[in-house]
Amino acid sequence: MRILSGIQPSGALHVGNYFGMMKPAIELQTQGEAFYFIANYQSMTSLFDAAERRRNTLDVALDFMACGLDPEKAVFFRQSDVPEVTELAWILTTLTPMGLLERCHSYKDKVAKGIAPNHGIFAYPVLMAADILIYDSNVVPVGRDQKQHVEVTRDIAIKFNEAYGQTFVIPEPRIRDDVASVPGTDGQKMSKSYGNTIEIFGEEKALRKKIMGLVMDSRTPAEPKPDAEKNLAIQLLKLVATPEIAKDYEDRLRVGGLGYGDLKKALFENYWNYFAAARTKRAELAGNMDYVEQTLRESAVKARTLAQKVLKRARWACGLD
Ligand code: ADP
Ligand code: TRP
Repeated sequence: MRILSGIQPSGALHVGNYFGMMKPAIELQTQGEAFYFIANYQSMTSLFDAAERRRNTLDVALDFMACGLDPEKAVFFRQSDVPEVTELAWILTTLTPMGLLERCHSYKDKVAKGIAPNHGIFAYPVLMAADILIYDSNVVPVGRDQKQHVEVTRDIAIKFNEAYGQTFVIPEPRIRDDVASVPGTDGQKMSKSYGNTIEIFGEEKALRKKIMGLVMDSRTPAEPKPDAEKNLAIQLLKLVATPEIAKDYEDRLRVGGLGYGDLKKALFENYWNYFAAARTKRAELAGNMDYVEQTLRESAVKARTLAQKVLKRARWACGLD
């Protein structure tokens, strides 16, 4: 089984990224051949600062490795170190109906938010299809918001196979229902673009403030809360605390007597402890950037070798060679 996923270097990674994509990807790295990459080509659709992209790319590398991505087990590289994906994206784009891309929620959401879309924002699901197909990927671990793009990938691969003969493996999204959409500080889906994130590796004081600032309703501490499971702090606590601790707080909220301040304090402490080991690891890695750079470079060679093989197959199938 080949497992593949990518993440953009478009800002500090948050616990939505962690539980939705990184943790499942890290757990899968022992289940097959894993390929994970930093989607720096894709980040060009929304980030226009070269120095920031370079810095963010290394930050994502540090974050992911600190969280447990093991370069001995997973091939971990920069998207742009395999430029063959851009050629495959062109080949695939000629088989992609406009309507398929026009229906993509992530594109429609951006337009609805008033962002003037560039062609890259519209077309990136085709680049994503190339990312996936060029490694003969079987399984793609992502959060729910990326499911549609994996479906687009499947559609394009099927079209290619029908037009030019069996060439691509048809991939499947792997989405964990329990963490498919982690809520942010405002209760909406946590996202860099909504400014509602809790970073994995933020500064202690700022994060404490963010968590203590979670907006709750105006019921008094004594009031029973029969809807305790819907409480935002409880939902987040379930991710970072043991099931016993989370259940204890949920029960106390349900019967009444637990104040929101105490609940948020518990959330902060559990969150902070949850990432403590990763924080230490990150500091170690940050002191050894040569190793991180070398990992990305060596992995890219492995990824590129495979990509060239699959691209060759596709070029032959469609009559370019
Ligand atoms: P963002 O919305 O913050 O820009 P990305 O689009 O870069 O995040 O997402 C990177 C990965 O993290 C994707 O697989 C995505 O599905 C996952 N992800 C992002 N936000 C969440 C969330 N709130 N809950 C679950 N998964 C998420
Ligand atoms: N589009 C994904 C995101 O915005 C990142 C990504 C690019 C990706 N290529 C991919 C994810 C291929 C999975 C597989 O989060």
